[in-house]
Amino acid sequence: MDSAALPLPHAASPTDLRKVMAEWRAAGETVAFVPTMGALHDGHLRLVEQARMEARRVVTSIFVNPTQFAAHEDLDTYPRTLERDATLLAEAGCDLLYAPTASTMYPTGFATRIAMDGPALGLETDHRPHFFGGVAIVVAKLLNQVQADVALFGEKDYQQLRVITRLAADLDIPTRIVGVPTERDGHGLALSSRNAYLSAAELDISRRLNGRLAAAAARVRAGDPIDVVEHETAGALLSDGFASVDYVAVRDADTLEPLAAAGDRAVRILAAAWLGRTRLIDNMAI
Ligand code: PAF
Repeated sequence: MDSAALPLPHAASPTDLRKVMAEWRAAGETVAFVPTMGALHDGHLRLVEQARMEARRVVTSIFVNPTQFAAHEDLDTYPRTLERDATLLAEAGCDLLYAPTASTMYPTGFATRIAMDGPALGLETDHRPHFFGGVAIVVAKLLNQVQADVALFGEKDYQQLRVITRLAADLDIPTRIVGVPTERDGHGLALSSRNAYLSAAELDISRRLNGRLAAAAARVRAGDPIDVVEHETAGALLSDGFASVDYVAVRDADTLEPLAAAGDRAVRILAAAWLGRTRLIDNMAI
């Protein structure tokens, strides 16, 4: 589709984006920002809905960020549905779609990297070591470009949310970072653009992940040893039919540091597991 025909105002470069932002700021309007990689589902629309409650104007970005994919991952096949996404955003009350090209975001000569410790250590990084470097650089760029009052991220990618919160604090980015609870289907499966890869049989198995985490959370709350719960929950997922389990981990909800015991601090359980070629992640508060 010719992007000029998209059903809502849109910008494809930081310069075009800034013109719109300047008009809104001149009118004294507040701005909320929802960064996405497109292939929108109800979880994204929930973010837009929440964004509308946070500010007068809503900007949503769609950019499939190459730097957060490893060479063997699904960058080329990641679903790209710009026309449909734009229609959904228009219906959801988004005011502006920002869809920059890869050469706008990463022009020839681009040379900057961001390396993070803290909440970026372990979990996803153990299995996707490139991931948070790519997320950090693109989110830092997007937050700088949009300069919103508030930016919203789904709690489904909980480690990403903690990393971005840390990044914004460390780089003095004034945009407030807000996490929005995970949107789930009627069987508890966390909505994700990659769920589209699941066969009917895999979908059936995938819906057990949330229940396994809920059972594990209950055991941790009851005082069962964390390492035992992690190990046995991973085993239960394998017996449910998951092909492999990258991790089941109980962590401090803020720093994501490993814990010997839950105590009375805020605690989160996080998991990543494979079904065929699809990697699922989920998490919940304990
Ligand atoms: O969660 C996502 O969709 C992406 O990782 C994000 C935050 C838009 C950065 O590309």
